[in-house]
Amino acid sequence: MIEKPLASRPLPVDVAPSADTPRLVDTHCHLEDARFDADRDEVIKRAQASCPGVGHMITVGTDIASSEAALRIAHAYPFIYAAVGVHPHEAKGFDENVFKRLLALAENEKTVAIGETGLDYHYMHSPREAQVHAFRMQVEIARQTGLPVIVHSREADDETLEILGQSGRVKGVLHCFSGDAEMAGAAMAMGFYISIAGPVTFRKAEAIRRVAAEVPDDYLLIETDAPYLAPGPLRGQRNEPAYLAETARAIAAIRGISPEDLARITSLNASRLFGIGEVPGAGRFTYRIRDSLYLNLTNRCTNSCSFCVRFYSDFVKGHKLRLTREPDAGELISEIGEPGAYKEIVFCGYGEPLMRLDVVKEVAAWVKAGGGKVRINTNGHGSLINGRNILPELKGLVDGLSISLDAQDEKTYAGLCKPVFPGAFAALLDFIRESVKYVPEVRVTVVRTDGVDVEACRSLALSLGVKDFRVRELDAVG
Ligand code: NI
Repeated sequence: MIEKPLASRPLPVDVAPSADTPRLVDTHCHLEDARFDADRDEVIKRAQASCPGVGHMITVGTDIASSEAALRIAHAYPFIYAAVGVHPHEAKGFDENVFKRLLALAENEKTVAIGETGLDYHYMHSPREAQVHAFRMQVEIARQTGLPVIVHSREADDETLEILGQSGRVKGVLHCFSGDAEMAGAAMAMGFYISIAGPVTFRKAEAIRRVAAEVPDDYLLIETDAPYLAPGPLRGQRNEPAYLAETARAIAAIRGISPEDLARITSLNASRLFGIGEVPGAGRFTYRIRDSLYLNLTNRCTNSCSFCVRFYSDFVKGHKLRLTREPDAGELISEIGEPGAYKEIVFCGYGEPLMRLDVVKEVAAWVKAGGGKVRINTNGHGSLINGRNILPELKGLVDGLSISLDAQDEKTYAGLCKPVFPGAFAALLDFIRESVKYVPEVRVTVVRTDGVDVEACRSLALSLGVKDFRVRELDAVG
């Protein structure tokens, strides 16, 4: 796949993010702000033309007048949505009439969230009691309407969490997150998303960068908060949604993925939370992460690992992987197209690729003939599954194997991975021992989790002749 810069192509007006050219969602900007009065339409067009482009935007009201203005903009552009709410700075005027008006605006078809609301004890532009009252009332509107709430919290983390915690089933996002890992963890435990904005690029923002690195894929959103908080080199200027690409590149680098990966992951989350954009319907046979192409052959696996992504999500890095049918070799080959265009072609996916050894061999032979590099990510049950030592058959077809060891002994393995085969752990050790004879690069991995003795696993792998041992953190798939 050749990446074309989006900026060089004219863009249609309403582009839904497609799985192949993922686009960003600016989940928080203030397009109704007076600073955009002179050139609002150009600002919006620049956002669409940036790279990665911004597919959808949520423009966020801060009082009744700006919420109404946000809705007018949302109605003028099919790809822009509105949030309606009263910012903590404006909380002092929040009364019964404001509550009723917000409730009415929440019913508008372009309203996708309540906010921004929350608590700001840094500036104290409104008294504390007024802020708490306005916040509680807006959380109540979110509860009644089923809309997510966009939360602003500054120097008020404990009280923010307390109010959200008392709200029952309200979902939402902590916008322009500036708290610590503990705050992020507590919010995610309540099902809240963490949205990272331009300050992640600031020189002294180590704490935000740590959160941006550690928030699991399933909880991450991004935003500009334009016209405020322009990122990095643009700091101090008027911010605009086009600069989201700058923040996206920074966060992608922190997480060790491509900006396109980040766009796919965060746009999926925006779809889940706000109901905008498209959630992919069918599971993918091939999917790209960083510079590699991954092949997804099956949902089936001979383990049921307690930490496996299959048991809590249909998605990996924003790609839908749960298949409704298994691809044949011809389909995989035609989707790969040009094997040399990728760093590696990786048999991986949702289930265990060596459940389909014949397909693996046929596709691997074709990839090798086309100048590509082949790796298989496996649970090491391939010989058990196929009833023979399959490693001699992989010689010359496979450059690398990543084998999940995942435990230091049989008992731990049985508890953690629940293999369908009795004696699976001993067979796995045999598979590893045999693999180094036939495959040039063999890597053994463990997932760091309760009960796993990482150092014992490392010595075990080394004793089997493996030189490359890696620890995978829970939730870091792909
Ligand atoms: Ni804002």
